[in-house]
Amino acid sequence: KTPTDYFVIDDEMIKEIFKPKNDFAHKGTYGKAIIVAGSCGKIGAAVLATKSALKTGTGLTFTIAPNCGYEILQTSCPEAMFISGGKKYIEEIEIQKDSVYGIGPGLGTESQTEKSLLKFLKQSENPLLLDADALNIISKNQDHINLIPKNSVITPHPKEFERLFGTTEDSFERLELARIKAKELQIFIVLKDHHTQIIDPKGKVFYNITGNSGLAKGGSGDLLTGIITSLLAQKYSPENASILGVWLHGKAADFAAKKFSKESMLPTDVIGELGNVFLYLN
Ligand code: APR
Ligand code: MG
Repeated sequence: KTPTDYFVIDDEMIKEIFKPKNDFAHKGTYGKAIIVAGSCGKIGAAVLATKSALKTGTGLTFTIAPNCGYEILQTSCPEAMFISGGKKYIEEIEIQKDSVYGIGPGLGTESQTEKSLLKFLKQSENPLLLDADALNIISKNQDHINLIPKNSVITPHPKEFERLFGTTEDSFERLELARIKAKELQIFIVLKDHHTQIIDPKGKVFYNITGNSGLAKGGSGDLLTGIITSLLAQKYSPENASILGVWLHGKAADFAAKKFSKESMLPTDVIGELGNVFLYLN
């Protein structure tokens, strides 16, 4: 453990990572993102993740959600394509090798959803993003955790982290456990908190200092799923997608807090500010 293992994410680092759009680009240049999210009563999670993926600049965005989300998603996110994943909850996850998957918000943990997720993980080789109920499902069994493809990104909040890897005394111990697990599984762990930490497979830690308590509302985490999945689809490395994604999410929240207050800002407002964050970077 050396001081060179710990970094604070600053504007300079972000400007190094961020790649402006190429004038000659077409939609194929910016990849395909597939958001797998939602169940009846939690279609909002799929909407928030899908919108965030669209607003982060993905070439093509798809949403796999249950049929009860069809009209809601086609109306609220007309730029995204809907793929049916089941009736009331996800029962089947279609595999497309050229796409990046972001799986988890609002999925629920029905046994059919569990089956389809495990089947998907057994067949997938590409890095993907797992969040929320996707993490809750795999938490039940170490063999399931071992199915996470190498170089994937997981985005647990403290409770989800605990379900996955066990309890710790405090946030320092939690961070050290995350470093061990990131190395063991060769994955990126985005430990969501007031100052979110990104841990890479070598155990390096990046602290994010954008974001504020206006994000302490249901739905905020779903945005991060969409943002990081989009950056992965745009061929940012998992490390850069995690660092830039967490920073963008927090910065958009800081802009939203200035406009609407921490009390009143909604995850939807944060999505609305992503554009201003990209203008700030460009
Ligand atoms: N300061 C900075 N950032 C914050 C703060 C804060 N005080 N509070 C929350 N955030 C950020 C986190 O860093 C994270 O990126 O907001 C996001 C919250 O993500 P989640 O905890 O995943 O919340 P979300 O998924 O939107 O809603 C809660 O999680 O426990 C499950 O099923 C439960 O539906 C519920 C969902
Ligand atoms: Mg969440």
